[in-house]
Amino acid sequence: MRKIAPFIFILFCTGLIFQACNNTPQEKESYEAEWLGETQQEIINTIEDQFQGFSRTMVEVGYRYQELYWAGQDQNWEYAEYQREHIEEALESGFVRRPERETSSQQFMSVALPEMEKIIEEGNKEKFLQNFTRFTASCNTCHAMEEVAFMVVKIPEKRNTIIYF
Ligand code: HEC
Repeated sequence: MRKIAPFIFILFCTGLIFQACNNTPQEKESYEAEWLGETQQEIINTIEDQFQGFSRTMVEVGYRYQELYWAGQDQNWEYAEYQREHIEEALESGFVRRPERETSSQQFMSVALPEMEKIIEEGNKEKFLQNFTRFTASCNTCHAMEEVAFMVVKIPEKRNTIIYF
């Protein structure tokens, strides 16, 4: 037993050294970035912060909603579909960041957006304008469910767009 003891001791020390060597690269790990941070964790935190939550999604959706409306008024159906599709994509990206918002958007995502797609495909301005009231109400339904009922979306009255048809 006495003869084995030194061997066990050496094995133990080798293990410690091996572990220490293995850890060193991670501790010293650093990346070149101008402002994102140095460690992997710092960089991940900064990226998440910079992406922000849901308000950024909504600023984009607000803009695209107005563009969609004027595209319909102009009967520029290609541009209308472009904006409708980007509203959908912006929301889907938003749900990656804030998954808890998805439930309240079900009516908007699975009824309002597909309905709008069909009407754009038909290219009927009268139907589009009628439907736009329902579409807007669906924005507001989600706002009520998400406890931001004080943010009331209203159909635009003044044109504020640089895209004309
Ligand atoms: C998930 C359901 C949901 C849907 C669908 C939705 N919204 Fe919102 N909206 C929100 C929430 C939640 C906020 C508040 C954002 C926050 O808390 O960060 C908001 C905020 C906004 C804001 C204010 C953004 C700002 O920070 O200035 C606008 C504008 C807006 N929404 C427009 C719309 C329009 C237009 C539609 C329909 C085309 C729509 N929203 C559909 C949930 C939704």
